[in-house]
Amino acid sequence: PKIYFITPSYPRREQVAELTRLGQTLMHVPNLHWIVADDNRLCNAMVMELLKHFGIPFTHISSPMPEMYRKASTVPRGVANRRAALHWIQSNVKQGVLYFGDDDNTFDLRLFSEIRPTEKVSMFPVGLIGDYGVSSPVIKDGKVIGFYDSWPAKRVFPVDMAGFAVNIEYFLKHPDASMPYKAGYEEDLFLRSLNLTLDDIEPRAEGCTQVLVWHTQTTKRPAPTVKIRKQPATSLKKLLQELDY
Ligand code: UGA
Ligand code: MN
Repeated sequence: PKIYFITPSYPRREQVAELTRLGQTLMHVPNLHWIVADDNRLCNAMVMELLKHFGIPFTHISSPMPEMYRKASTVPRGVANRRAALHWIQSNVKQGVLYFGDDDNTFDLRLFSEIRPTEKVSMFPVGLIGDYGVSSPVIKDGKVIGFYDSWPAKRVFPVDMAGFAVNIEYFLKHPDASMPYKAGYEEDLFLRSLNLTLDDIEPRAEGCTQVLVWHTQTTKRPAPTVKIRKQPATSLKKLLQELDY
């Protein structure tokens, strides 16, 4: 089966570095289609140029976050763009496996052979999550019996976005499946919209004993406050606006 790797991404100064590292990981993975869903009014030309260099089959979608969510106290990051990618799959793909791979995470290449044979939903540990340092299903006799996660928050499936993969035929059988704009609950409500039960979940990564993906985060430098004298201020202001500072 082909892996459809869904990456929400947005313009900021770290973007090209993140996508370069991720693209150079994905270059090693056979039979993969990369869906890069840009949180931007238009597909960023610089991102498009970068994507062409890797030689990975890709689809570049523009799907900006609606303004009303951008102003929310907790912003649902990457939701508009993941939803657009899911719609693209619904209209263009018949089979395969989908996986949500954020642009700043770190992926062991062994993850891809673990998720490829997913029949409904497979799950596995994610490193560097929350206070416990790992978020994982708990396994007994080869079955998922619960979850180890430092922020359960009454979720039925307290897992990270990077901790599961979904078979596309199974996904397409649930036409109402969707990811809500609810920060913190995107994974849980998406999995619940697939009518998933604990019994359906396929544990991977040696019975969830191995970490093959990490929720790494890049330090973000705050927007510059320095006064720049030699350049015309108006054009700099415009440039920073375009970069979303
Ligand atoms: C954590 C989870 O790992 C995400 O899967 C989840 O979407 C996110 O929390 C959330 O619910 O807010 P975290 O590292 O905190 O992720 O968030 P980011 O890495 O900043 O964003 C997640 C993804 O969305 C990234 O691929 C990022 O490029 C993208 N994003 C972020 C946007 O498309 N637009 C934004 O405004 C911010
Ligand atoms: Mn992240």
